[in-house]
Amino acid sequence: MERELVGIFRSLGYQAVEGPEVESEFFNFDALNIPEHHPARDMWDTFWLEGSLGLEGPLGEEVRGRLLLRTHTSPMQVRYMVAHTPPFRIVVPGRVFRFEQTDATHEAVFHQLEGLVVGEGITMAHLKGAIYELAQALYGPHSKVRFQPIYFPFVEPGAQFAIWWPEGGKWLELGGAGMVHPKVFQAVDAYRERLGLPPAYQGVTGFAFGLGVERLAMLRYGIPDIRYFFGGRLKVLEQFRGVL
Ligand code: PHE
Repeated sequence: MERELVGIFRSLGYQAVEGPEVESEFFNFDALNIPEHHPARDMWDTFWLEGSLGLEGPLGEEVRGRLLLRTHTSPMQVRYMVAHTPPFRIVVPGRVFRFEQTDATHEAVFHQLEGLVVGEGITMAHLKGAIYELAQALYGPHSKVRFQPIYFPFVEPGAQFAIWWPEGGKWLELGGAGMVHPKVFQAVDAYRERLGLPPAYQGVTGFAFGLGVERLAMLRYGIPDIRYFFGGRLKVLEQFRGVL
């Protein structure tokens, strides 16, 4: 499923990049406009790590601060922007971790696909176009997309989006999206400055999205419980050799 999603975006001109699963508080939260003690942090129940692993920053520099298991793939937005100059289109597939109760639709480990497009004149219309292309590629000409306003600290405006699944006859809530918040660009340029790099994010705009991968795989392959993915039962896994 992940390969298929990445393939769809590759064909739309996106480059696929990956980031670390052990992440610093700075990239996972602060740089994304989620400061300590801000109630928005409650949106992501976090596995905190003890000690220091000598985490590398986007340009190989040493990263200080508390470590955690990334709660989303959005920290790669910051890492990528620090090390590159716009325009660009990227997707970031990867595992994410949430410290929460599990049930048939919630698991402490799952996968997301992040998208980030930055350049001059990028608008919400480009975001809608990207999700529309995804819907077409996944479910064909009868699919459609829906956006509803929602709050995420690192986008403004923010949206949750759903894709119409014609065979199932229902809307699939796939994830969050929005226009990159100016504070994220400012945090990136401030970090670049500390590394001696010139600012690169003035006068540009961008959109970002993040979607859950397991949900799509569960529908495609009729998997009734998300916990099967990491349950390690061979009877389950053998059915998907080379597929998932
Ligand atoms: N990172 C958000 C989450 O995991 C999803 C998201 C990504 C929202 C990009 C907006 C933009 O909940």
